[in-house]
This record gives sequence, C-alpha cells and structure tokens, in this order.
Amino acid sequence: QSRPWSHASGKVILLGEHAVVYGVPAIAVGISRGAMARAIPCDESTSVLRLEGLPVDLRADDEERDLARGFRAVLEAAGVHGSFVVEARTDLPPGAGLGCSAALGVALARALDPAANAALTAERAMAWERVFHGNPSGVDTAVSAEGGCIYFERGRGFERVESSAPLLLCVGHTGTISSTKSMVEAVARLRERRPEMVEKSFEGIRSLVRNARLAIEAGDVRALGQLMDLNQMLLSGLFLSTQEIERMCGLARDAGALGAKLTGAGGGGCVAALVENREVADRILRAWKEAGFEGFLAETPDRNRPAE
Ligand code: PMV
Repeated sequence: QSRPWSHASGKVILLGEHAVVYGVPAIAVGISRGAMARAIPCDESTSVLRLEGLPVDLRADDEERDLARGFRAVLEAAGVHGSFVVEARTDLPPGAGLGCSAALGVALARALDPAANAALTAERAMAWERVFHGNPSGVDTAVSAEGGCIYFERGRGFERVESSAPLLLCVGHTGTISSTKSMVEAVARLRERRPEMVEKSFEGIRSLVRNARLAIEAGDVRALGQLMDLNQMLLSGLFLSTQEIERMCGLARDAGALGAKLTGAGGGGCVAALVENREVADRILRAWKEAGFEGFLAETPDRNRPAE
C-alpha cells in the first residue's frame, strides 16, 4: 500500500540564532535538504517509528529512549487516534545547525495530519523539539514547516520575507558536531555572569536582523553579507565560534563570499556563506574541500514541496 510522503525543510539561520531564544527576532531560510515521513495505519497496540538508519523500530510506549518520547509527544500533540507505523528519513547531518531534529519533528507531525497548516504543524513539532532541546525558541520548526524565508520572533510567530533576489548560500560542515542544548545553556550561564555584555550583544543582533530584513526585501545581497559578518563577530564575542568556524568563514571570504557566519548553535556544526553567483560558490566549495571541509550549495528560499 503506497502512502504519500510528507516533506519538511532543513534550514539555515541567516541571522539571530541564540538571541532569538531571548525574544530577539531571527531570519531563517528553508533549504531543500530536509526530512520526510509517512504514516501507515496498523493493527498494533501502539504506534511505531521506523527511522531510516536506526536498527530498531521505536515503540511509542517505550519510556527509555528520547526518540520514542519525542515520537509519543508528537502523537499526543496531533491528537492521533489509532496506531500507525511511521516511516521517516532525513538527509541532514545531525548536530550541525541545519535543523535536522526540527525537520524530523515537522515531517512526523505533517505525516500524521497532512491537512494541518504550517503554523499548527510547527507547534505540534515543538513537542518533539522540547524533548531534545529543553528551551527551543521555535525558529527551527517554524521555518521547517513553512519553507521559504521567514522573520521569526518568539511568542509572536513568523512572517514571510519576500526576497527580491535569490539567496545563494554555501553551507559547509566543520566536521565537529555540537549539542544545541549545551550551547544554549552556555549562553544562559554567560548571561547570568555578564548580563550587560550579553544584553548589548543581543541588542546589536536585533538591529542587524532588522536591517537584514530590509536588505533581503530590497535584494541587496551585499548589505546582507556585511550584516552576516557583523553577526558572526557578535556570536564570536559570546564564545560560540571555534577555530574551524573562523577558518571556514575566512576561506569563504577570501574566495569571494559576501559574508559568512556560523549557523545554528555554533561550537562546531555548519557555517553559511552568502554568494553572488555559482562561480564564487564553486570557488568556496573547492577551497573548503582542499582544506578538508565538506560543503554544498543551497539555493533558497525553498518552498516546501507538496506531498509526493
Ligand atoms: O543548532 P540548531 O540547528 O538547532 O539551531 C538552534 C538555534 C538556536 O537559536 C541556537 C536555538 C533556538 O532554539 O533557537
């Protein structure tokens, strides 16, 4: 019996990560890499999650595993009646800042209720995110469910940002994974010790994000690149950058990027470099490869594809 697959985007945060946890807006774009899921009704006593790459099926009544707890949370949030075998897969690297866990949560929520709109799907996927991240802002699930480019503010939801020029991004992996939860906790500790310093950084990020929105709407990718560079400086000041991140950003800028920064939680994971055209993108991807870093070109905004 063939069932349609539901799709959810991966994401790149263009500006505003971490500050977004404290109410500063952020801008994020969906990318075509993401997650897929489909729900097949079954006669079992409980629903089962079959995640590609995992050797065992996860039963929703399993109290031990986080993945099973997350799955149960989505089933409850979606108010599902009856039991399902839910198959899911993702082509996003985990722990890399590309929204792998949010995309899986959104794909599951959407597979269980394909008729729900993006905002409701994102809200249901938050039940999954809370199991893994403790204090998620919601930006990941919002952009994953909506696709395209969004301006997100915690507690206020999101607005679409219409870009007048295509946003071409080189996304590169430092090769180290990091835990979003512990990076968010590290910022919380820093904020307790140095509240003024952290608040000043957040206010700086707030104005960068506002200007970035205007730059995107005006199609001014050069201005957007500069704003991304400034955001990277403020993130480094919050101890979220690493040597590899700085190295990859430097290589990207030397090869002609308009701007480059970490994306997501930092402390490893991915960097995003904004480029004007494919030739520059190829140069950056080559420079990264020669230095031992993997990367790919993400053309955004990407609208979510309808179920196949
Ligand atoms: O590392 P990711 O892809 O989960 O991105 C997290 C973004 C943060 O702002 C660091 C956390 C959040 O909940 O918004």
